[in-house]
Amino acid sequence: MTVQTRGAQPVGTTGEQDAAAAVQAMFDSIAPRYDLLNHILSGSIDRFWWWRTARRFRHILSHPQARIADICCGTGDMTMALLRRRPPLAAPVLAVDFSHQMLMRGAAKFAKHGAIAVEADALHLPIADGTLQLLTTAFGFRNLANYEAGLREFHRVLAPEGELGILDFSEPGGILGKLYAFYFRRILPRIGRLLSGAGSAYAYLPASVGRFPAPREMLATLESIGFRDVRWTPFTFGIAGLYTARKP
Ligand SMILES: C[S@@+](CC[C@H](N)C(=O)[O-])C[C@H]1O[C@@H](n2cnc3c(N)ncnc32)[C@H](O)[C@@H]1O
Repeated sequence: MTVQTRGAQPVGTTGEQDAAAAVQAMFDSIAPRYDLLNHILSGSIDRFWWWRTARRFRHILSHPQARIADICCGTGDMTMALLRRRPPLAAPVLAVDFSHQMLMRGAAKFAKHGAIAVEADALHLPIADGTLQLLTTAFGFRNLANYEAGLREFHRVLAPEGELGILDFSEPGGILGKLYAFYFRRILPRIGRLLSGAGSAYAYLPASVGRFPAPREMLATLESIGFRDVRWTPFTFGIAGLYTARKP
């Protein structure tokens, strides 16, 4: 069971190019209020998730020459969590996003701390084969128009023994899952619409999590593409989780 033909599909879009253009336009439109809304809607627990993700890769981040990219970096909080673990004079981290408005806000945070902003599509990275020791992506992978193509591209740019970290939302089970689903599907889109004025963007969020493959499917796809040591670690009762994998 793999995720071969799946990817994000905002309402009203047909085909991958159309979906990607809609995602890009949506993030450009919410960029000015993205950080504020993110922290309100997540109760700032996202800071802990970025920190935990960076800590998981501290053995790579501590190497000054390690080549690292944070894909779908947006306004740069995952990138900043990585940079905090880099030693002085370390090689810069590449911070990639295709939304100009998100990336400019990210660059304002991370440029002076050792990251380089790259405006590019995650499905067509301007990075040579076998380059990176670490590729991370936080809350971006779910938005790709083709999940399997995304994983293949990440595999291409990683060096042998390079590691992958994908942090994204998940749908927890049990009673907590039901409560969370109520918040995520009913309350969050309303608050998002009120505060951002972009109703469709915050209706898209729970819809995109609903479309996102379950951990079992993602792990099978990672393996089928050639990753090894694939694992999913739930964060905060499985509201979010971190996929880790290694390119052999
Ligand atoms: C929810 S934001 C996450 C930003 C940041 N990583 C964080 O943790 O806050 C998702 C980001 O993914 C970017 N994105 C989505 N699809 C992309 C693609 N195909 N190529 C590059 N960036 C993409 C969006 O522009 C947006 O900035």
